[in-house]
Amino acid sequence: MRNLLVTGGAGFIGCNFVELLLERYPDYRVIVFDKLTYAGRPENLARFRGDARFTFVRGDICDTEAVRSTFREHQIDTLVSFAAETHVDRSIMAPDAFIRTDVFGTYVLLEAMREYQLERGLFVSTDEVYGHIEPGHSSVEDDPMKPRSPYAASKAGAEHLIYAYHITYGLPVLVTRGTNNIGPYQYPEKAVPLFVTNAIDDIPLPLYGDGRQMRDYQYVMDHCEGIDVALHHGAVGEAYNIGSGVETENIVMAHAILDLLGKPHSLIRPVADRPGHDRRYSVRTDKIRALGWQPRHDFAAALERTVRWYAANEAWWRPIKSGEYREFYRQQYQSRLGQA
Ligand code: NAD
Ligand code: TYD
Repeated sequence: MRNLLVTGGAGFIGCNFVELLLERYPDYRVIVFDKLTYAGRPENLARFRGDARFTFVRGDICDTEAVRSTFREHQIDTLVSFAAETHVDRSIMAPDAFIRTDVFGTYVLLEAMREYQLERGLFVSTDEVYGHIEPGHSSVEDDPMKPRSPYAASKAGAEHLIYAYHITYGLPVLVTRGTNNIGPYQYPEKAVPLFVTNAIDDIPLPLYGDGRQMRDYQYVMDHCEGIDVALHHGAVGEAYNIGSGVETENIVMAHAILDLLGKPHSLIRPVADRPGHDRRYSVRTDKIRALGWQPRHDFAAALERTVRWYAANEAWWRPIKSGEYREFYRQQYQSRLGQA
């Protein structure tokens, strides 16, 4: 591996992963390929600009010619793909872009991998492909996929294609299924940065339904380290769960955030639930742990680092919250908060 293409590298997890790659592998060239949707932020990449090993290409993974020319011109030998539409609520409002990017875009990347005979391709997927998990069970990689939101279904569709390309064409591809990430540079539509930034501004935290839904939150750098382990040591044709193993109810998360910021719990505002809301995700991580990975942040450390970062980096999120975000927020929350 020498020339790595990182799609979606201007997004939350992608930019943290680029940081890890440049720190750990002095001889790698990292080419970020990103469409810069609302979620892709050039400022997330600002810290790499002076590094001669780093290149940015603006492009859409659905654009076959742009993908092919990037593979060719940069002599890409390895692909790590983060590029996706990622927010469940947006997928409920407008699924089109999810199906286009997450499914068709994955197909374009697979075709380019085939044409340019890449050594390896890792596609970053999600534990949401398993769907809601009943208490008492934690998903293992061989469990069936039962996605229940347009986002999760698009990611599962992508995974089916990836596996089919491995079987049919022998493509050296693998998949990771991470749980919910928290940490720096997460677009403040996702629950944790939304709650943190609202709390800083003393505005209500919209909590869906009874707030008792569970998520396995992990620190983004732990997830990135797991992706790195899978990339270098995972077996092709396989999927690897990556998660903290710590299950946290949304209401507990909201309380913890407010406590860290010294804000009152009365800021929590129960609102109408998300349609089809998965109540619980939970994964077993024995398979990635057997490759030598383990998380390095416990829940308290992960959340504290996250909250402190948003408190210290208002210059990052305030411009986001004053742009396109306002219209999204109005559509998503105005009637919910009005009814609350
Ligand atoms: P994000 O929304 O912050 O970033 C997505 C990035 O992809 C953005 O930079 C965006 O510009 C880019 N992008 C979108 N459409 C594109 C296209 N057509 N062509 C090129 N670039 C495009 O997402 P994230 O939270 O960093 O998630 C990254 C990946 O990890 C996704 O595949 C997601 O499904 C997966 N994942 C995320 C989480 C999580 O908790 N955030 C957990 C598990 C898996
Ligand atoms: P989110 O960050 O959107 O991640 P995902 O749905 O992909 O797991 O949401 C995390 C949890 O928080 C999920 O159970 C939905 C809930 N949630 C709220 O209660 N209020 C909100 O405003 C948002 C965005 C999410």
